This record gives sequence, C-alpha cells and structure tokens, in this order.
Amino acid sequence: MQLSDPTLLRSSAYVNGDWHPAGASFPVLNPFNGELLAEVADATAADTEAAVTAASAAFPEWSARTAAERSKILRRWNDLILENLEDLAQLLTAEQGKPINEAQGEVRYGASFIEWFAEEGKRAYGDVIPGHGRDKRITVVKQPVGVVAAITPWNFPIAMITRKVAPALAVGCTVVVKPAEDTPLSALALAELASRAGFPPGVFNVLPTSNPKAVGAVLTGDERVKKLSFTGSTAVGKQLMADCAGTVKKVSLELGGNAPFIVFDDADLAAAVEGAMASKYRNAGQTCVCANRIFVQNGIYEDFIAAFTRATQALTVGDGSQEATEIGPLINEAALEKVQRLLVEAERNGAEILTGGGPVEGQELLFQPTVVGGASTDMQMSKEEIFGPVAAVYRFETEAEAVELANATPFGLAAYFYGRDYARCWRVAERLEYGMVGINTGMISTAVAPFGGVKESGFGREGSKYGLEDYLMTKYLCWGGVE
Ligand code: SIN
Repeated sequence: MQLSDPTLLRSSAYVNGDWHPAGASFPVLNPFNGELLAEVADATAADTEAAVTAASAAFPEWSARTAAERSKILRRWNDLILENLEDLAQLLTAEQGKPINEAQGEVRYGASFIEWFAEEGKRAYGDVIPGHGRDKRITVVKQPVGVVAAITPWNFPIAMITRKVAPALAVGCTVVVKPAEDTPLSALALAELASRAGFPPGVFNVLPTSNPKAVGAVLTGDERVKKLSFTGSTAVGKQLMADCAGTVKKVSLELGGNAPFIVFDDADLAAAVEGAMASKYRNAGQTCVCANRIFVQNGIYEDFIAAFTRATQALTVGDGSQEATEIGPLINEAALEKVQRLLVEAERNGAEILTGGGPVEGQELLFQPTVVGGASTDMQMSKEEIFGPVAAVYRFETEAEAVELANATPFGLAAYFYGRDYARCWRVAERLEYGMVGINTGMISTAVAPFGGVKESGFGREGSKYGLEDYLMTKYLCWGGVE
C-alpha cells in the first residue's frame, strides 16, 4: 500500500476532534495475504462514554446552525473524499479485500450520500395543519433527534458509515461511529478528512474496538444516545434492539437478506445473466443484497445456467489491489467456514457443483466462484445468507410458485426479477415481500433511493428523502387563543 498522503492511515480513536491513543491496541490484517496493516487503538467502555459526552456537548451548537451552514462542511468533506479517492480505495482494498475497482466505486458511492444529504438536509420540512378549533393553529416541526450511535459493518467500510452519518449530521445530530473490527482504517481515514473539512470537535467521533460488546453496551444503554443505526447480522440486530429498549431509543436496522433472483421464461437471457453476475459476485458475494437464491423458469433454465456458468468461469480471482481482479478474498476464516459448511451440506443433499467448489489452493480465503445447479429448498443455503461467491440455482415452473418460493423466508431486504410481460412485472413486484425490488436490473443501490428491508431484514430507510426521517423527531405545536 503506497498512499500519496500517508497521514490518512490513522490508528487512534477520534474523539472530540482529537486523536486518542488508547492503552491497548489490536491488529488490522490484509485478508488477502495476512499482512499486518496497522495496530489500532482498542476503544473501551470509558472511551465510549467520553465520545458520547463529546457528542452531547457538541449537539446544541451544531444543531443550532442553519442547514446551509452544515451543508458547506458536508460538501467540503465530500470533496476531500473524492480528492483522496485513490488513497481511500487502497486502504479499503487492503483491509477489506475487495477489488480496487470496486473499492473506488465504493468511495464514490460513499461520497454520494454526503453530497445528497448536504442538499436534502435543507429540506427537513415540517407542516401546517388546519386547526381543530376556531382559535387553534397547528404546526409541525422536524428537529434532530440528538446524539446518534452508528454501528457499521466490514463489507462497505466507507459507504455504510456515510449513509448513516451524512443525514444525521445534515439535520443537526452529532454522531459516534463504531466501525467493524476488521475494517477500522477506512473509518479513521474518513475521520481525518472530516477534521480537515471543519466539523467542530465532538460532532463526529470514531471508536475502533476489538470489544464490540463493551462499546455497544454504552451506545445502547446511555440515555444521552437518542438513536441507534445498525447494519449487520439479524442476530446482532435483534440483540441491539433489545438493548435499546431500556432507554427507548429510536432504532433503525439494516439486517441480513436472502435475496431471490427470479428469471422468467420471457426474460432477456443476456441481460439476466449480466444482472445475476453483478448481483451475485459484487464484493465476492459479501453484500446483504447479493442474489442468494437464483430461481430460473423451466423453459430458460438450461440456457441460463450454461451462460451463467461460463461467465462465472471467466471471473478473475486474486489480490484485490491488482486491476484485473474481479473476486477478492473472503473477509476471514469464519466467513470461509460458513461457505464451506453450506456447500458440503448442499452436496450431501444432491447439489451439482458446475464450477468452482472450494478455495484456491494455497490461498484459503480466496474462494473460487462456484455455481450450484439443481439447488433445492431443503438445502441450508436456501435459508441462510451465503455471503460468498457461491451461486445456487433453482428451477421453477409457474409465476405463483416463484413468488411463493421467493417469499418463503423470514428475510425481506432485496429481491430481483427478469421478465418482459409488463403486467406480470407489476404483479410480481407487488407480491414480493421485500423492501427493494430490482426489475430487469441486478444493481439497485444508489443514494437517491430508500435502501432498507421488511420482516427480519429490519426497518428504517437509508438514502433519499426517506433517509432523513430516521434522524428527525416530529414535534407538533398547538397554538391556542388565536382570535
Ligand atoms: C449491504 O450489503 O449492507 C449494503 C449494500 C449496498 O449498499 O449496496
């Protein structure tokens, strides 16, 4: 890693506008080669309390500024991120493993939330409601909720932070971020750039830690924190939600998915294969919206699976820092074990491995892109997020069967389908129990649309005008005596 600005590689916690070396540290490793990238400060419960104190102290002044004043600083942050795109992408690839082109895409994606909310924060409009009495007037105002805690995942170490932090800061909240322990360096680089952009001390704080439970306990238990936003697994999300109950915090959760990707007989085959490739193999299959179950109708099944398998075999697997790489390593051993367990169980239940099937020799976190044909809903991989470059393809006969199969899961984040009959497209889109539906597209993520799920995939929306709501409270003012 050769950063043109080495000061972006930070290893201390960022609290109250200052870098705080903690007593202990933990290693951050490159998942491709195990190289030590940095020893990072290991924030404790006491550090978390200090960050919450700083964020609480900064809130009155930050929230009193006009949206336009806050917007200027957010825009500077956006510009600095884009000016440092190459360095940020290198850091991201080094700690997360994703191919450098995808990392550059993530930096742009991450910045786009800041740019969007720097503007949208100016439109946190209230309302005027016709009064219920002759002397009554009713107005509704939107106010920032206060201190926000953001707990973010390793698969998008930049974008999942900006997607939460940008709307929060834009409307006047202050924030404490706990990044994932695998990928704190991107978060700390964002903090360095936030400090250069001119956010006042305490407005934005970042706490790397190898002890998420201790830090999380303060973030969920401290009554000064008014809102928790979490992206990660459903199991952890449920626990955090329970932990927030004690202080009745506003909560938003973006949790696991089990995305169906349906290909109807009348689909454009080439487009469906391209969409499935994009959705399945983005970040080596490690996104919550990756196609997890590919359902293909009988009439197109053979053609689809042949073309999809050929495209999968053409993928270049390797070191994310190399331009040619399309599939980087899995994040860690636990991810590898999960993918292997699901594959072994699927084979035991009659799955046919059409290509791939295991790690690249001598590089165990590099998993070969794998296509599983003849998948069935008895297999565990139809019930769990695979979170790796393994595509399971199922056959179906009728539209009703496809919708039933797609909905037969407790999750409801993203779904996709390909077909050309517009009446069916409308019907199926309505019947899918998901927060997001891609119709003839495998890529749905953008700052201008509301990202989020239903059922056990969580609640709350990120991005778009809907993404502001999660950081606002609605207050109604009843004016009497207006004669
Ligand atoms: C996620 O995997 O949680 C987010 C993916 C995205 O924003 O596209």
